[in-house]
Amino acid sequence: MTISPDPVAGQAVKAADRAHVFHSWSAQSLIDPLAVAGAEGSYFWDYEGKRYLDFSSQLVNTNIGHQHPKVVAAIQEQAAKLCTFAPAFAIEARSEAARLIAERTPGDLDKIFFTNGGAEANENAIRMARLHTGRQKVLSTYRSYHGATANAIALTGDPRRWPNETGVSGIVHFWGPYPYRSNFHAENEAQECERALAHLEATLAFEGPQTVAAIILETVVGTAGILIPPAGYLAGVREICDRHGIVFILDEVMAGFGRTGEWFAADHWGVTPDLLTFAKGVNSGYVPLGGVAISGEIAATFAERPFPGGLTYSGHPLACASAVATINAMAEEGIVENAKHIGETLIGPELRAMAERHPSIGEVRGLGVFWAVELVRNRETREPLTPYNAVGAANAPMAELAAECKKRGLWPFTNMNRFHVVPPCTVSEAEVKEGLAILDEVLTLTDQHTV
Ligand SMILES: Cc1ncc(COP(=O)(O)O)c(C=O)c1O
Repeated sequence: MTISPDPVAGQAVKAADRAHVFHSWSAQSLIDPLAVAGAEGSYFWDYEGKRYLDFSSQLVNTNIGHQHPKVVAAIQEQAAKLCTFAPAFAIEARSEAARLIAERTPGDLDKIFFTNGGAEANENAIRMARLHTGRQKVLSTYRSYHGATANAIALTGDPRRWPNETGVSGIVHFWGPYPYRSNFHAENEAQECERALAHLEATLAFEGPQTVAAIILETVVGTAGILIPPAGYLAGVREICDRHGIVFILDEVMAGFGRTGEWFAADHWGVTPDLLTFAKGVNSGYVPLGGVAISGEIAATFAERPFPGGLTYSGHPLACASAVATINAMAEEGIVENAKHIGETLIGPELRAMAERHPSIGEVRGLGVFWAVELVRNRETREPLTPYNAVGAANAPMAELAAECKKRGLWPFTNMNRFHVVPPCTVSEAEVKEGLAILDEVLTLTDQHTV
């Protein structure tokens, strides 16, 4: 890793950014984006030469780490061969990416519709479900994020939905399981599972199950809290969908491609949805790519009848070539196994040990390289360290945590009253120890906010 500081170049990058780049999700005058000079593996660095350990995998997408040489080479080779070609043609990189993905998706999800990212994947999954069933309504959970396009943001439960709502989406929200903050007053996981399923049944009864096209869930809820479904929940939702002829969609945009220590999170529970959406880890975001894996039954709906959806860049050759190289490298280098091993032997035990030392840790939960640490003011009452959707002074303890991590060379992922430990699936034991040691130090500050 060669880092050559160049502050003057950094200032130019920053100045042009501030003059002309309009950033996602932000009040444009209130942000201060870091100018990034380069990245490799689990690290990136700025133009001053300061290096950061990336415990966020950017937006939880660089599962294979930064600049994996095999993926970079595959993009270069594909660029030299065929940069772009319309979706209507059969192209080697596209065919091979679809084959490799279909080989890994659960059950008979053997047809792949490619998109440019996760939101479009969910958008098209809903389109398929509505056309397949002839019904309009879709159910999703309050604790969720499904993307920022029209339907995907309406499906989303988190506050990013609020300013985007049209009120005519045909989407209904319900509560999924969350044992630590149970909506059902459950005292254990089995109760949480049973009551969450009963709540879903009741919601359906009042919505009219015959009007519902699909239920969509993140297999493991990502940004909204890394919520792992209790044993039996996903199988229960599968059974409810089957009984009412409802399409079951699993959103594996964040949880898929090794993040949980399996190729797909659904593999932990042996559940097969009718549609599975993916993006992010499929090629670590080296070139934008997402998609929908489609069951035989839903694919058959569109055997004689045209599917009324498409994108100029569906199955883009550069994106598909990078997916082929990513999936092959993950298989050859045991990257999914590494994620599982690191989670079981290091991140989980170390975070639990930290919870013994730090009164501000309320709960630790996760799988693979997909962990949440929920921070509280008080362990007994479980009062969150910061209120839901806090801004400004109310969010100060979390803002301080993030700033202190960055000062010490760790790039964290924070959301509400949580930080997530989501390094690349390629992360080494030494890197995990380095990052957790920094968090251990910084949590002494957070502890000062406990009562
Ligand atoms: C679970 C989930 N679904 C969908 C999306 C949207 O993906 P994209 O930003 O690629 O549109 C995200 C993005 O974070 C996600 O985490």
